[in-house]
Amino acid sequence: MVSLKAKVGAMTFDKPGMVASGIMDETGPSMVRMLDCGAGAVVSKSVGLEPNAGHANPCFMETEGGMVNAMGLPNPGIELFEEEMKVAVPHGRIVGSIYGAGPDDFRTLAGKMEDYGACTVELNLSCPHAKGYGMEVGTDPAMVKAIVSAVKSAVSIPVWAKLTPNTHILPDIGRAVQDAGGDAVVAINTLKAMVISPEFARPILSNKFGGLSGKALKPVGVRAVYDLRTVLDIPIVGVGGISTWKDAAEYIMAGASAFQIGSAVLTEGPGVFDTINCGLERFMEEYGYGSISDMEGAAHE
Ligand code: SIN
Repeated sequence: MVSLKAKVGAMTFDKPGMVASGIMDETGPSMVRMLDCGAGAVVSKSVGLEPNAGHANPCFMETEGGMVNAMGLPNPGIELFEEEMKVAVPHGRIVGSIYGAGPDDFRTLAGKMEDYGACTVELNLSCPHAKGYGMEVGTDPAMVKAIVSAVKSAVSIPVWAKLTPNTHILPDIGRAVQDAGGDAVVAINTLKAMVISPEFARPILSNKFGGLSGKALKPVGVRAVYDLRTVLDIPIVGVGGISTWKDAAEYIMAGASAFQIGSAVLTEGPGVFDTINCGLERFMEEYGYGSISDMEGAAHE
């Protein structure tokens, strides 16, 4: 009998797959639905201090092997988000994703998420297309260290930092999270991307740039997790292009303790969690892995 329980630092999840921030996690009922579909946790849509309408349409485009989005971090603001958390938290593990412009914003937002019952806070240091937020603050190791330290001093729940692949200093950023006492890193967010309409001779998204997610992103994410595993002692949560149990196994063998699924919730439907869980169980039985942690980092040995 194999165990699908996943341990990320001090936190244990009954199932290793979580819903990544941004998909089916804007409202309390959608988060509950995803928990009912076999997700071990749901990471909320990233929430900021004030309500934000996000970018104008078009803000989403399908592309070969994935999709490019520039939603623009739409959310109701942290005060109103309490209503969604009240609905979702009694049903399972909710990771509260937050974005801000610097340590003070993140400290305030994290405190609210803890008050609302989030099991963990995930810092969005990686959105590739939001002016003044996301990767604009998350690619400077000194800023990352200051943000993570500020949040650690304000909350007692675990603090995860979601990192961007749009940098050549990913290991330095990971180290900054670890040095500041961060409990885990989440790798990766989307790759900065663009789609152009030849007919209109213009970028299609209103924001011009967006972030590539989906199957095409997986080898980039697997490489990022592998690299981070070689320099970090804290756990890594893998995300980027996972839609099958094999994808999940690749991330775990690269060094992830758990994984998140985003785009595949759209392309495969919410049943993707149960399908991946069954596939992982069969593989683990056949290849003699008793637990997710037995498989973790296997590709390094
Ligand atoms: C968005 O809302 O634009 C996407 C968020 C992200 O990439 O972190």
